[in-house]
Amino acid sequence: MERFTTTDLDLTQEPGTPRAFSAEGSIRRLWPVESRLFAAHLLRLDAEDRLLRFQGYRNDEAVDAYVESLDWFGGVVIAYFVAGEVRAAAHLSWTRGLVRTGEIGLSVEAPFRRRGVGTALLRRAMTVARNRFVSDVELLCMPENAAMRRVAAHLGLKWKIASGQAEAAARLRWPDQLSVFDEMLAETEGLVRSSFGPAKI
Ligand SMILES: CC(C)(COP(=O)(O)OP(=O)(O)OC[C@H]1O[C@@H](n2cnc3c(N)ncnc32)[C@H](O)[C@@H]1OP(=O)(O)O)[C@@H](O)C(=O)NCCC(=O)NCCS
Repeated sequence: MERFTTTDLDLTQEPGTPRAFSAEGSIRRLWPVESRLFAAHLLRLDAEDRLLRFQGYRNDEAVDAYVESLDWFGGVVIAYFVAGEVRAAAHLSWTRGLVRTGEIGLSVEAPFRRRGVGTALLRRAMTVARNRFVSDVELLCMPENAAMRRVAAHLGLKWKIASGQAEAAARLRWPDQLSVFDEMLAETEGLVRSSFGPAKI
């Protein structure tokens, strides 16, 4: 019996919600030398948000330890930058070995919510996972976390409650030229936007 409700995800053909988000910042991969910006973002989350993000209480020391212990070869942090600060992030990590499974943790600071940032980060993280040959991605959250469940629903994921936790999983296709191009284009756009700001029309 499967633990999760697994959904086949083809991100290049399935923009269920608008691809663009109506926020002022930019999304790009975080570099390891920028890890303190990620820590600063997580430290700005209040106790309740940290509980939702980590499914357990985390004091400042535990948050620092989490960031310090990030495995940059087995994971990627995709960050949402506003004025040089990380205001939201998706941490994708995957198992080593022939068959790779991944997990994503998502956080958006309260003033930046409900603008599509969480959905945009999750979508980007799924594309990155696909391009790293991750076959299945799991999402875990507390059952009462309506916002997170809604975000995942934007990508067509279905949740299942088991052992007091909400769980969902996406089965990803193998990468193709389109998914690689998609990531490259998005990353370039993020770099340009974070260097020069959003285009003014
Ligand atoms: C979950 C979280 C990442 C969502 O970020 P976000 O940027 O607000 O996400 P989006 O704007 O893309 O979408 C949020 C959706 O949830 C809905 N939503 C927000 N709060 C809600 C609530 N209390 N009840 C029901 N729906 C809610 C929004 O209306 C929106 O749905 P819509 O676009 O269909 O209207 C953010 O709330 C967060 O960081 N929470 C704390 C950490 C956490 O819970 N992490 C998840 C576990 S890993």
